[in-house]
Amino acid sequence: MTRSSSKNKIVLFVIATAVVVLLLSLLSAFEPTLLNYLQSQMWKRPAPVTIIKALKLILRSALAYLVVRALRVLIFGLVFRLKRGYEAPTLARNIFSIVLFAIFFMAIFSNLYEDINLGGLLTTSAIFGVILGLALQDTLGNFFAGISLHADRPFQVGDVVSIGHEHHTGVVEGITWRAIKIRTFQNHLVLLSNSSVAKEAIEVCPRNNLNARLVYFSSLYTDSPAKAIHIIREAIREADNVSQVITPIVRIRNLGESGIEYEIKYWLVDYARYNDTDALLRQRIWYAFRRAGLTFNFPTRTVKFERKPRTAAAESDHDALVERLSAVDVFAPLSVEEIATLARATARHVFAHGEVVIRAGDSGSSMFVVHHGRVQVEVNDGGRFRPLAVLNQGDFFGEMALFTGEPRTANVVALEETEVLEIGHEAMKELFDTNPDLVESLSHIISERRRGLADRPEGSPLPDESAGILVSIKRFFGLR
Ligand code: CMP
Repeated sequence: MTRSSSKNKIVLFVIATAVVVLLLSLLSAFEPTLLNYLQSQMWKRPAPVTIIKALKLILRSALAYLVVRALRVLIFGLVFRLKRGYEAPTLARNIFSIVLFAIFFMAIFSNLYEDINLGGLLTTSAIFGVILGLALQDTLGNFFAGISLHADRPFQVGDVVSIGHEHHTGVVEGITWRAIKIRTFQNHLVLLSNSSVAKEAIEVCPRNNLNARLVYFSSLYTDSPAKAIHIIREAIREADNVSQVITPIVRIRNLGESGIEYEIKYWLVDYARYNDTDALLRQRIWYAFRRAGLTFNFPTRTVKFERKPRTAAAESDHDALVERLSAVDVFAPLSVEEIATLARATARHVFAHGEVVIRAGDSGSSMFVVHHGRVQVEVNDGGRFRPLAVLNQGDFFGEMALFTGEPRTANVVALEETEVLEIGHEAMKELFDTNPDLVESLSHIISERRRGLADRPEGSPLPDESAGILVSIKRFFGLR
């Protein structure tokens, strides 16, 4: 409250009191005159006495109200504040005012209306009270929860609280009949009803208390913990809002996966500023690390490779591949070592019955040897696939696209579960460099297969293109 507004309030209070006192004195001074006047004027009910009594009741009640206000300011505004050092809760002030005013009012009423039994009046209104109570269940719940909160006094205005499992955290701004008002650290106001707060767990960080916080950091395992602890403690102990009463504690929290993890426990002067203070400490840590040549940890992994010993099964597998490739007629010119190298360079694939291994029109840079099973070569003949050849174990296919660079000429489909060995461009190129015969025999096979592919009338022979194919293979593989 500003100085001028409280001044205005005092002036208003003095004027109101003066007016009420004046009216009361006038009423008692001119009571007989007023009574005579009213009797002469009024020939119907209400009786003049009743009017005068009602006026007295109103004016005395108004005076009582002003007295209650004055006492409230005196007791809570001055005595409480000066003695305790903080503002009394609104709820406590309101209860005080209401109770005191009720006492005054009952006294005034009994004095004016001696014949009316106020106690009896209150008793007969019990049923009405029950109805009212039910209707105001929530309001009363909040009211009584508010009273019990005030009685317990778990926190006061200015304390930082964190309420309930939703963790409403902020500074308490006020406690009213209905709710507790919290200002969060995002400067939002949160209102929590007294009855709900009474049921929740409340974490209180009182204003006049040394509240502690934890801040975490970590360093490399190569940095000495003793050095890190000393340096950080010195770096933070004089930071703004860090209490000088208790020296901050820096200790190892965990030997983590990728570094030593530390925690700082420090006490704050003003707990409501903990976000800023935590941030300041983190900044101090960074500079201290930089000066001392310490390093923050980062996720690291030590990977150890273990060489798998060649098992007997792998050995016999390799032998089976060597045996299969040796049996392929085009590879006849290759030495044992070359076959073994080729076997290591192959990839094995299994296809189910009906699966397409090669699709006509696709590009391809590898050839295949049938290891187990059977495949069928099919060409598209006006929308229908015409079988061209069935290839068995030891036969090969896919060489045309590999050696000429042209698209696949036909579909190759597995006739049963089939395992094929895939040989790539690089593996073949190495063999071509040392085996000119291999290129030649492949060019013959390709020429032969091309003739099979050609859609021509029965008995009309196609010329042997093997010489041209040989030239194009050599060009494609950059051979001389
Ligand atoms: P490519 O053209 O790469 O893909 C389809 C494969 O089918 C082809 O290589 C040859 O390996 C194979 N192929 C094409 N025509 C025949 C044929 N007449 N006889 C056997 N195989 C063939």
